[in-house]
Amino acid sequence: MSRRPLVAGNWKLHLTIAEAKELVSGVGASAAADPGVEVAVAPVFTALSAVHEAIAGGPVRLAAQDCYWEPKGAFTGEVSATLLRDVGCDCVIVGHSERRQLFGETDEAVNRKARAVLDAGMAPIVCVGETLEQREANQTEAIVVAQVERALAGLAATQAAPVVVAYEPVWAIGTGRTAQPQDAQAVHARIRQVVAAALGESVASNMRLLYGGSVKPSNAAELMAQADIDGALVGGASLQADSFDAIIAAAAGRA
Ligand code: PGA
Repeated sequence: MSRRPLVAGNWKLHLTIAEAKELVSGVGASAAADPGVEVAVAPVFTALSAVHEAIAGGPVRLAAQDCYWEPKGAFTGEVSATLLRDVGCDCVIVGHSERRQLFGETDEAVNRKARAVLDAGMAPIVCVGETLEQREANQTEAIVVAQVERALAGLAATQAAPVVVAYEPVWAIGTGRTAQPQDAQAVHARIRQVVAAALGESVASNMRLLYGGSVKPSNAAELMAQADIDGALVGGASLQADSFDAIIAAAAGRA
């Protein structure tokens, strides 16, 4: 498979500047050891600049956890994609389920953010995933398909190459429960079909689809061995250099 695995650490609302700098130095060593894997970290906004300096010249890519779609204006408290580019980001997580659930983010907002990230020259990591209630009502496929279609609406195939989609079942995030690898694979395969229908086979076959939700050293290799799982979006286990390193190793096939 020609898709280069991507392992992204979502640090959420954790780590001071000093803690972030210390952690990322360990991550840099892991990323250097496995050049076949692309590694990114997503610190809080206030640590982006310091982490950017700390990773300068190395293989680790800088991600933000969210953005606003307008480049500037009277939007108190927001940070635009263009300013994230300015501070050195390469990618931006958009539509994380915590944004959707706790901050009322809609599919339309996710679409605007994804397009703003692309327009600013970065890669959006678009998160989708069903809740436990939706899963139990057998709505997983319908929910995920609709989220992917709406997130990608209006994108041209020519601009979509940097897009990454992360399938993160909401019930698996931060709970210690992980999707069965085969179940996750089935959803990923469906997502790739949706991308192919929207943007063409070539975009779909090159697009990285990440799994997220309680990824840890003990389950990472099996998840990433699935044909359509091209890496991981990691929360809790990305906050320790050794567990994140083990997940990078799993993506590299050396676990
Ligand atoms: P988790 O978080 O690995 O702690 O479950 C994943 C995420 O929210 O991206």
